[in-house]
Amino acid sequence: MKKKLLDCAIETRKKAEAKYSNFKVGASVLCKSGTIYTGCNIESSSYGLTICAERVAIFKALSEEKSEIVEIHVVANTKEAVSPCGACRQIILDYAQNAVIVLHNLEGAVKQFSATDLLPYHFKDKDLTYDK
Ligand code: THU
Repeated sequence: MKKKLLDCAIETRKKAEAKYSNFKVGASVLCKSGTIYTGCNIESSSYGLTICAERVAIFKALSEEKSEIVEIHVVANTKEAVSPCGACRQIILDYAQNAVIVLHNLEGAVKQFSATDLLPYHFKDKDLTYDK
């Protein structure tokens, strides 16, 4: 399954809309149901609207079924295994806190983390308190 998830991420990376950064990222997400969702980064001429590959894949999974996300793979043409941005780390914690996150480059470098490895002492929904 790990090889399949990497292959899916590599394949979807080719669809990246990355004409501003020219940095293409691919991601794949495995749900407990067995379904795989993929995502690539999609950039906007209004740069801040850009969305990362990981979040595209996670949001596709969340919008399609209520099945726990168990594994996430990310790949880019980096020297070492790609490192997800802070925003994606927060979303992984919010929606895939028990997932295994496997990070790759195109040359076979691979690193595996938990969500809390990637974002220790993170903001959590239980931290949300409301002033009266
Ligand atoms: N990018 C991702 O897709 N995932 C990350 O975790 C890091 C950054 C994308 C966003 C943008 O399109 C490009 O890489 C350069 O930042």
